[in-house]
Amino acid sequence: MRDKYWSPKGRGVWRYASMLPLKSGVSLGEGGTPLVKSNLGEGLYIKFEGANPTGSFKDRGMALGVTVARESNASKVVVASTGNTAASAAAYAARAGLRCYVVLPRGNVARGKLVQAALHGAELVMINGLFDKALEYVVTHGTRYAYPLNSFNPWRLEGQKTLAFEVFEELGCPDYVVVPVGNAGNISAIWKGFKELAELGLCRRLPKMVGVQAEGAAPLAKAWERGAPQPFFIDEPETVATAIKIGKPINWPKALAAVKESGGLFVTVSDVEILRAQKLLASRDGIGAEPAGAASVAAALKLKLSGTAVAVVTGHALKDPDVVEISAREVRNAEELVELLER
Ligand code: F0G
Repeated sequence: MRDKYWSPKGRGVWRYASMLPLKSGVSLGEGGTPLVKSNLGEGLYIKFEGANPTGSFKDRGMALGVTVARESNASKVVVASTGNTAASAAAYAARAGLRCYVVLPRGNVARGKLVQAALHGAELVMINGLFDKALEYVVTHGTRYAYPLNSFNPWRLEGQKTLAFEVFEELGCPDYVVVPVGNAGNISAIWKGFKELAELGLCRRLPKMVGVQAEGAAPLAKAWERGAPQPFFIDEPETVATAIKIGKPINWPKALAAVKESGGLFVTVSDVEILRAQKLLASRDGIGAEPAGAASVAAALKLKLSGTAVAVVTGHALKDPDVVEISAREVRNAEELVELLER
């Protein structure tokens, strides 16, 4: 029984076809991302999801989601997005020959992500309001006309669970897995992956799941702190990490279950901590993360986790170039350059 399900073959997400409800499908070579031992803490590993084809973990799920869209003869797909889902849906829809509509919160999507969605030929639709409103539009209206690829789509989560399998193959089951939480799909998907390994007797001690939210966008973490059974939804989330600027996470019940069942926790990090972690990760580990991606590292450093911890860095630095300050020296001639190099 174990071998029937656990028989990794090939590369990337489809390497785990035996653990997935689909055996093959659309692919841009997603998954198989680097797991890098960090210089920032004993036992800390970075799972760098920025190395996916469109620069975020969304590609894992989009491979399956777009496959199902195509197989169900949909001609259009639709997503609400803070940017990465849009970029990924646009690329995978292009690959599969589907039209793609992305509904975006005006002024709250990082530039790199907009560029990707536009480049891949998606129809960009801007709304006045934040992500939560965009998602509401998609749920109530979009789904009538197009196949939805937000993370309430279960195929997306099936694809995203493969991160757990990759970590397991390289490291076994770690003590902690630290995940930035926005709409709360990814943490539930990763937990599902580890649980399936345990069901097959492969993972004896399951990791504790740590859900990370930005201080100003923390409906789950704030409720967790006070022991409330439900999230405190917020109307005006605020954080530099626009990817997780979400006040009403649609997958909250699954995320809460993941954290509870695993014996983990939710934690908040401030924008200052996020940007500090982004810099540390870049300058000490050589890994470029967008702010939301660095939130997991900020949390791992803040919590000083003991044992083995995997921080999931969910998106690439190039996604959001505008948060990085650039300072440069000017030299007027070769002598000045030499002088500078000699210092
Ligand atoms: N990190 C990044 C870089 C993201 O883009 C997202 C979500 C998350 C973390 C949180 O993942 O929603 O599964 O809890 N971005 C979505 C989007 C909302 O539209 O791109 P989650």
